Amino acid sequence: MRALIVGAGGYNGGNVARLLAASGHTVRGLVRDRARAASALKEAGIDDVVQGDAITGAGLHEALTGVDTAFYFVHALGAPDRRTDERDLRAARQFVRAAQATGLPQGVFFTTLAPPRGVRPPVYQRNRLQVERILLDGVPDMTAVRAGMVLGARSRGLLPYVRLVRRAPIVPLGPWCTNRIAVIDPTTVTEAIVAAGTDAALAGRTLDAPACAQPTHRELVRAIATTLGLRRLIVRSPIATPRLDAALIAAVTGESYGFCRYLASGNEHDYIIDPARCEPFGDLNPPSLHEALHDALHPVPDQWPSGRR
Ligand SMILES: NC(=O)c1ccc[n+]([C@@H]2O[C@H](COP(=O)([O-])OP(=O)(O)OC[C@H]3O[C@@H](n4cnc5c(N)ncnc54)[C@H](OP(=O)(O)O)[C@@H]3O)[C@@H](O)[C@H]2O)c1
Repeated sequence: MRALIVGAGGYNGGNVARLLAASGHTVRGLVRDRARAASALKEAGIDDVVQGDAITGAGLHEALTGVDTAFYFVHALGAPDRRTDERDLRAARQFVRAAQATGLPQGVFFTTLAPPRGVRPPVYQRNRLQVERILLDGVPDMTAVRAGMVLGARSRGLLPYVRLVRRAPIVPLGPWCTNRIAVIDPTTVTEAIVAAGTDAALAGRTLDAPACAQPTHRELVRAIATTLGLRRLIVRSPIATPRLDAALIAAVTGESYGFCRYLASGNEHDYIIDPARCEPFGDLNPPSLHEALHDALHPVPDQWPSGRR
């Protein structure tokens, strides 16, 4: 199969490229900056690279030509002008236009889990749901694979938690600390994304990747501290708003406020999988939370993607 990775220099895009190439598929990558993505492309084993930009549409037509399946990872998180939503929506529309023009047969959008039914989606999930709608409406055999936080050494979801635990001897968490968050290891989620893009029976569906566990935020922070061998006092602060949380996380971790605002917005609700949507991935066996965190925080160099296999 000839596969295209849109966002091949990113964390999850790079992992998918690597598994596809190892499974004998022909892989092409679209990146914004070939030089900046060079080490990620080398690690993923991609030689066929198109430089472009999903927001302007540059390179999309060329990259999609002759492709059997495309994997879409574009996310303008932390855009300097804070116009993340506008950029992401524009990029999704450009992708649909190019996919329709080139007759893309199948594709996957890797995205986040939906909020509980009936609640107003927080900024992060609202962004991802809007992009999902544009892609799935525009490309008939596009599948959405939703997942919780990926517990990878370089995952953008996990890094702020790790920095927070490393840097703050006392970790303040808002009342949301008892909300649950699904977490998944990089190997399992990569296998789920690849399966969705290469199995025609899964085309056009919205699926949830399975989870290693669904701890509360407090349990997750405790598990990260334990895995790092650190003693941390976790205190429950009575006042929290997504903006305040974002400002605190940004100050402690060094991440941009814009990125932390999206990250913190998801804490307002449980962020868990729907077992019915996971059913097609019944043959995948995620490791335990403890194993996944150990692999993420004590990675073995040169083993894909986290040292487990
Ligand atoms: N990490 C997690 O824990 C997690 C969990 C669930 C779902 N997800 C989903 O995974 C997807 C990818 O996120 P990630 O965590 O892998 O983050 P990432 O490493 O930052 O990947 C995002 C990718 O988007 C690319 N991109 C941004 N703007 C672009 C543009 N205009 N044109 C082309 N490419 C562009 C980036 O390219 P550059 O390299 O040029 O910046 C990067 O490769 C998102 O949909 C996210 O919701 C992530």
